[in-house]
Amino acid sequence: MTHTCVGIVGAGPAGLVLAHLLKEQGVESVVLERQTRSYVEKRVRAGLLEHGTVALLEQHGLAERLRARGQVHRGVELRFAGRRHRIPYGELYGGRHMVVYAQQDLVADLIRLWVERGGEIQFAAEDVSLHGFDRERPEIRYTRAGREQRLTCDFVAGCDGYHGVSRGSIPTGALRVYDHRLPFAWVGVLAQVAPSTEEIIYAHHPRGFAGHMLRSQTVSRFYLQTEPDDPIESWPDARIWEELQGRLAVDDGWRLREGPVLEKNVTDMRSFVVEPMQFGRLFLAGDAAHIVPPTGAKGLNLAVADARVLAEALLGRVRASDSRGLDAYSATCLRRVWRVQEFSSWMSWLIHRIPDATPDAELRRRMQRAQLEYLCASPAAGASFAENYVGLENL
Ligand code: FAD
Ligand code: PHB
Repeated sequence: MTHTCVGIVGAGPAGLVLAHLLKEQGVESVVLERQTRSYVEKRVRAGLLEHGTVALLEQHGLAERLRARGQVHRGVELRFAGRRHRIPYGELYGGRHMVVYAQQDLVADLIRLWVERGGEIQFAAEDVSLHGFDRERPEIRYTRAGREQRLTCDFVAGCDGYHGVSRGSIPTGALRVYDHRLPFAWVGVLAQVAPSTEEIIYAHHPRGFAGHMLRSQTVSRFYLQTEPDDPIESWPDARIWEELQGRLAVDDGWRLREGPVLEKNVTDMRSFVVEPMQFGRLFLAGDAAHIVPPTGAKGLNLAVADARVLAEALLGRVRASDSRGLDAYSATCLRRVWRVQEFSSWMSWLIHRIPDATPDAELRRRMQRAQLEYLCASPAAGASFAENYVGLENL
């Protein structure tokens, strides 16, 4: 039986950032991860970091590779009706920028630095279960290489994502659950091809949304709107390129480069939140507590924001016996979570094709078009978009 101050379940962005911020101030933790190291370092997900996320990583010495390899961005392109419109979010929000950097590269950096700094992490930790977190001394049990292990701790951080074990360990009835499935899904495509754009493109098209996102000079990321539960088998590569060409088309001669598809899958969209993000000595952070539709690329950024709040709260408690941060943890995080839920939902309804089954679909499409035109024409609307997209500070 081993003991640590904070038992962290999950080595995603939330768990790893939390572990680093605690260690920097001398608070020990152990990270338990169900998957192997190589699996989590290759898992393709998000790729756009907010200004505040990058600043936090820099402040704590976690951004060296990100600075060297990430691409700084100050604008985004919206396409509709065959034309392109740039929103210069940098100019519109006090010169702030965003950075394109793949989530799996960030996770790999955080793991490497954690190990270099002497942090403890157990990969391939199976059958994790949480006990006694309503009392003084929680315990985490798990199996590793066929042997049962026990870790006692003062606090548990449930950073194990939407499908993790932490949220479900909380007694039913103690959490209020908000769950809404959006009528859209994305075919996510990773392709071995140089980008055909310098800035991220969101295209609104009668056949559905298409996104041209960025990764590196040789790999690009694309998204295509489809229906929820559409199997990936209905998206052969030829269809993917045909739809991308059609939906991203503009009337000025721009062409999309094509290349081999490396990976593709279908992702559903939901707005999901549990309140509060805490039960006894168990604190939920990141996707374990909330899922936002991927439209504004906010999930990873929200996870890091939770980790920062939780680290400060735990440090207050452990180092100064001050519980105020922990008492306020859930309410503090939820302010940002709901702001981001609203923005991600708003942006989803702005750029997707509104399904025929939506009540008053045609009326809503007209209003959607008016909203797109307003956003591209009005600096005030642009500024509101910019502060949400880049990530509102002071929340
Ligand atoms: P995660 O990154 O999910 O990390 C949780 C960790 O816990 C994982 O490593 C997992 O293996 C581990 N774990 C789970 N269960 C257990 C257990 N029982 N015991 C131990 N460990 C466990 N966001 C965007 O902004 N843009 C995107 O394009 C995008 N695409 C996505 C695609 C997919 C398929 C998914 C699932 C998410 C995507 N997201 C995207 C969301 C974004 O990646 C998440 O919001 C972000 O990863 C949240 O970080 P986290 O640390 O909270 O959780
Ligand atoms: C991504 O890079 O995967 C990405 C970027 C912007 C989004 C969503 C996803 O809005």
